Amino acid sequence: MAKRALRLACVALSILILRHHSEFQAFTGSVRAQTGSRISLRSVAETGLSQLAAVTTLSIDTGDLAIIKEYAETGLITDATTNPLFVSQAGLSGDPVYVAFVEDAIEYACGKVEGVDERVALAMDKLAVNLGVAISKLVTGYISTEVDPRLSFDKEETLRRARRIIALYEEAGVPRERVLIKLAATWEGIAAMAELEKEGITCNMTLVFGFVQAVAAAQYGARLISPFPGRVLDWHKRSSGKETWSPREDPGVVAVERIRHIGSV
Ligand SMILES: *[C@@H]1O[C@H](CO)[C@@H](O)[C@H](O)[C@H]1NC(C)=O
Repeated sequence: MAKRALRLACVALSILILRHHSEFQAFTGSVRAQTGSRISLRSVAETGLSQLAAVTTLSIDTGDLAIIKEYAETGLITDATTNPLFVSQAGLSGDPVYVAFVEDAIEYACGKVEGVDERVALAMDKLAVNLGVAISKLVTGYISTEVDPRLSFDKEETLRRARRIIALYEEAGVPRERVLIKLAATWEGIAAMAELEKEGITCNMTLVFGFVQAVAAAQYGARLISPFPGRVLDWHKRSSGKETWSPREDPGVVAVERIRHIGSV
């Protein structure tokens, strides 16, 4: 009885925390491929997507395994990214595949650590990894998994959780070379990344809105830097009142263009 109550408490708490995460994500609103709009995959694959894939590496940002599979089979997508929002969407979808991931994560956490907070934290990481492991069977490249964004200003805790996510992947047979740990490019996040990269834990530095963040991430050896052109544009729209920009003048595009040349100057 007590065990069941605790288990329910674990579920309720994870859902709460996952909800909290969705709000965080909605607030920061990361840039991602428009995987949500179900335009005919065939026409996309033959036109825009294949043209893009010819000049760059494409990563799909979703936690929906069916969508990842569909795009991975075109051969145009090699990497995949999840974040707490996608993990929560999967976890709350009611689909038996994802429900099994949630159940497994809670059971795992309840069997490993004590205390509700610690259990919820471990269950969340394990859930993200369960999803990531399934994705790793669909794509050939990297899977990005994000460290709880609330730890973005806590270097030590970020390190502990990032290492633990990697340990969970390795426990499930996915080597660290296939995983990118996604961290916010805050001062603390960049400091944590510098240590992780030395341990062979590659990082995708996210929430990059400015040149200085990108330069610091590059100098400390980040494997990947992810600027957010859409959010840069939002800021400029709001501060200037100007609604439409030509692609060349779009401040987000201009910022990414400048960031892209870090290292070649
Ligand atoms: C890195 O993170 C960004 C931002 O979240 C994401 O859009 C991108 O797909 C990620 N890259 C890879 C290779 O996972």
